Amino acid sequence: MSSHPSADGDVTPARPARPRVVLGVSGGIAAYKACELLRRFTESGHDVTVVPTAAALEFVGAPTWAALSGKPVSAEVWTGVHEVPHVRLGQSADLVVVAPATADLMAKAAHGLADDLLTNTLLTARCPVVLAPAMHTEMWEHPATTANVATLRSRGVVVVEPAEGRLTGADTGKGRLPDPEEIFGLCADVLARGALAPDLAGRRVVVSAGGTRERLDPVRFLGNRSSGRQGYALARAAAARGADVTLVAANVTLPDPAGVKVERVETTAELREAVLQASVGADAVVMAAAPADFRPTGESTVKIKKSADGSAPTISLEQNPDILAELAATRVAEVVVGFAAETGDSTGGVLDLARAKLARKGCDLLVVNDVSGGAVFGAEDNEAVILAADGSSTEVPRGSKAALAHVIWDRIADRMGPRA
Ligand code: CTP
Repeated sequence: MSSHPSADGDVTPARPARPRVVLGVSGGIAAYKACELLRRFTESGHDVTVVPTAAALEFVGAPTWAALSGKPVSAEVWTGVHEVPHVRLGQSADLVVVAPATADLMAKAAHGLADDLLTNTLLTARCPVVLAPAMHTEMWEHPATTANVATLRSRGVVVVEPAEGRLTGADTGKGRLPDPEEIFGLCADVLARGALAPDLAGRRVVVSAGGTRERLDPVRFLGNRSSGRQGYALARAAAARGADVTLVAANVTLPDPAGVKVERVETTAELREAVLQASVGADAVVMAAAPADFRPTGESTVKIKKSADGSAPTISLEQNPDILAELAATRVAEVVVGFAAETGDSTGGVLDLARAKLARKGCDLLVVNDVSGGAVFGAEDNEAVILAADGSSTEVPRGSKAALAHVIWDRIADRMGPRA
């Protein structure tokens, strides 16, 4: 970091510059969601210039963008020509993100057309570029769009997979703009890492997240406090690095990560089935979920009632299968990764117990959280040690769950063989 002398002669660190973001908006109904994305950027200290296309301005007017960004807004290259905006914006940006990116915008970007300020900016940008497409399913699946997306990805552009759901009319399908919060998280990731090498492109990975629930009766269950945040961060990070990601989520209330297939399950038995099925032939599987180790022996079909004499019912439990151990034993996926939250006990310290667990489970990597000092459940950050079956280990200092997710993928990528 650079320093500069203050007025009284002390050398104080220079305040890091605010990251410069160009937010491109092309002409789709989802343009209104870009207002939310813009707010997330400005509220977290980014310097944002909005560059809409003329069609985007049909959906959301320039005054909205100008008021939210605090900067003048133009769609064409003829405003403020003396400042050469068509070159300057792209050259000076730390990140260009286009949300929504229409089929037309991506076609122009793939072919290097430059007929307005946004397409000029895309041609002059030397920073990471993220495109978040939104369009009707037919347009997304058209061979022309597929080819344009492939071209853009081959050049290192991060093209986010659209979400599935309700589209503009009454129809539903793939093509929705992912949640603005998700796009923001991805952009923050890209900015933090400088660029995201698509090093997991062509890889298929499976991540489990959340905590399973074992039904006692129609209204009660045995569960745990896992929020699913670390698993979701892993899925998000892998998608951002180009992987085809299946996320098996047990009772998680977080929004679906952009560009990830999400399968929802409730119990350990359902989690096992979904994970084993998705893992066949996968390059990696990461068990970040907290499956319940026990389930009630037989679910009551009627609500268990209080007894008149005040005695409590006895609940008998049986053990659930260990999914991680099964994945490691069957080797359906190439790299098998587990998690362990440990406190240490009279038989050994946290790392001793974790080493023993790694050997017992037979996985390739075990991500160990020391939870002696307090729970990590639901927290925004995490610290861990990643133990490997070959005896090596990586200490990851306290930081965001996204940062830990990327280090875990780095270690997994080290262990993957050549692409099929
Ligand atoms: N796990 C699993 N199936 C289970 C229980 C746990 O796949 N039925 C996975 C978790 O997803 C995690 C790892 O195993 O990746 C470690 O879980 P943990 O509960 O620490 O392991 P246990 O074998 O239950 O060990 P302990 O006796 O310490 O509870």
